[in-house]
Amino acid sequence: MRVIAIANNKGGVGKTATTHALGVALASAGYHVLMVDLDPQGTLTTACGIRDAAGRSIATLLDDDGSNVPPLTRAMRPLARRLTLVPAERALSATETALAGRVLRERALKRILTPVSGYYHVCLLDCPPSCGLITINALTAAQAVLVPTQPQAADLAALKSFLATIDSVRANYNPRLELLGIVVTFYDDRLIHHRAIVAKMREDKLPLMETMIGRSIRVAEAVGAEQSIVDFVARNPQAQAYVRLAQEVARSMGGMSPGNRC
Ligand SMILES: Nc1ncnc2c1ncn2[C@@H]1O[C@H](COP(=O)(O)OP(=O)(O)OP(=O)(O)O)[C@@H](O)[C@H]1O
Ligand SMILES: [Mg+2]
Repeated sequence: MRVIAIANNKGGVGKTATTHALGVALASAGYHVLMVDLDPQGTLTTACGIRDAAGRSIATLLDDDGSNVPPLTRAMRPLARRLTLVPAERALSATETALAGRVLRERALKRILTPVSGYYHVCLLDCPPSCGLITINALTAAQAVLVPTQPQAADLAALKSFLATIDSVRANYNPRLELLGIVVTFYDDRLIHHRAIVAKMREDKLPLMETMIGRSIRVAEAVGAEQSIVDFVARNPQAQAYVRLAQEVARSMGGMSPGNRC
């Protein structure tokens, strides 16, 4: 199982929309996909139409004192063919505080995910907009991190600080963590400012994904319809962009293909 964290400490950059769209697109392409909502806001959970996550969420599992590995299956929700979600709930904020006092506090999520690694090709971790212990757990459990960012000056500064966090996790907890890439979201090529920021990112040799995601009101509407944009309006240009992004992500998974065992 390839574990990919979708993370950036900047809020509202499209982490959740990207996780959801990639999950749906990769499952449609034949991969067995597990999505984990790691945000106490539970945005992905709501967007997937789950309203009864209390007591059966990633928080419940992380709340375990770590003495034995809690079975992830207790919180799993099948959403569609080959697509499963582990939801979040508000209590996850308290979990983060409780984790701080635990031994191996950065590895709690990794311990939970390991037993199911034979059942899924890919696990997508939707991170909260912070660099707290939950995000550190995600970066410690992941083999790769995908960083959505908006093409704006303030976001570029935040991105650089987040890349430093990735380096620090690599140095301290997870030497094999790869930066899968930076995916530009809310991109509008009519805006000089957007084009200039993307040019600057290229000049700085930041590893940009080929696919950029544009702005579309349909992406926000899809959340209200409890669907990802990929299901909601498959012909929408941003739905198609997400399918191309999923193809890039799949290529990064090397020999792992839908026909192979997980
Ligand atoms: N490509 C897009 N075009 C238009 N709206 C979008 C797009 N992507 C996401 N949105 C909307 O922007 C808002 C923020 O997106 P999203 O929740 O995916 O960001 P996030 O990084 O997960 O936010 P948070 O940091 O709060 O977790 C949501 O209302 C979402 O529906
Ligand atoms: Mg989010």
